[in-house]
Amino acid sequence: MGAPREEPPRGGSPIDRGVVLITGASSGIGRALAREVAARARALVLVARRQDRLEALRAELVAARPALTVLVYGCDVADRAAVDAMLRAAAVEVGEIDVLVNNAGSGDLGVYDLSAWPRAEQMIALNVTALAYLTHRLVGPMVSRGRGAIANVSSGFGLTFGPGMAAYIGTKHFVTSFTEALRLDLAGTGVRVTQVCPGPVQTEFNEVAGNFTGLEPPALLSISPERCARALVRAIDRGRALVVPGVVAWLVVHLGVLCPRWLLRLAYRPIARALRRKQLAVRGAPAP
Ligand SMILES: NC(=O)c1ccc[n+]([C@@H]2O[C@H](COP(=O)([O-])OP(=O)(O)OC[C@H]3O[C@@H](n4cnc5c(N)ncnc54)[C@H](OP(=O)(O)O)[C@@H]3O)[C@@H](O)[C@H]2O)c1
Repeated sequence: MGAPREEPPRGGSPIDRGVVLITGASSGIGRALAREVAARARALVLVARRQDRLEALRAELVAARPALTVLVYGCDVADRAAVDAMLRAAAVEVGEIDVLVNNAGSGDLGVYDLSAWPRAEQMIALNVTALAYLTHRLVGPMVSRGRGAIANVSSGFGLTFGPGMAAYIGTKHFVTSFTEALRLDLAGTGVRVTQVCPGPVQTEFNEVAGNFTGLEPPALLSISPERCARALVRAIDRGRALVVPGVVAWLVVHLGVLCPRWLLRLAYRPIARALRRKQLAVRGAPAP
């Protein structure tokens, strides 16, 4: 948005010949990220709950580049003991992590009062606590070495708001503000901190979020997971603070940021009402 460019980071990208840990690598943006960095990294540590998918990805990546070490861990990143065990095992196999990509995340579509608390709680544990914990575990050694990167996958909703995803939007505001503030904290340490704030990306996200509307995001606004992954990798390479990939998504997100909040509230109110009616109809409950 016309902001002055910061000084580019010194030294080469920590991705090159580095150890890159990617959470949520079994699908969507995380899988595309693994494919994107596979030609440059020394080792990949791929984490998600569906280990079979990670194994298939490992086979694909190693077939393309036999010199690459790929470790896969079927691990719920919201489970601290499992994360600790995974980090211990990875340290033995490949040593220190150079780049942490906090990508694993989930959504929960619907008005908040009709949402199920266990789903909301799991989402907050994953999108917020797991991301903050993994960062805390890995950032100290990066600072000591004077090299590394933390790259977080936030959302356009980390910068603005909308109806029908209150808790998700809250979690992404955490990710965006946390990442910006962490970047300040780590200024001058040699550790890069960056984030991607995408609009809609064509992944399993909407399905997992329980999209009951029967509607998909407009094709013009949506980008592929590969494009999103490329944007994040470029941002790490160049030491950028925040990127919104896709021209149309960039415009829409920035319009949301610049638009007066009272106007957004007014514009979104009928959409929120329609969502509530649809959600109640799907549930078979009478509309208010
Ligand atoms: N798609 C979009 O429109 C969009 C837009 C903006 C931001 N984002 C963000 O992009 C990130 C990636 O989402 P995506 O679009 O690629 O969706 P996706 O295709 O559903 O991928 C989500 C990934 O997170 C993993 N995951 C979920 N819960 C986990 C847990 N408890 N522990 C470990 N891994 C877990 C999933 O693997 P398992 O199920 O195998 O564990 C999967 O690999 C999320 O942070 C999301 O908020 C997405």
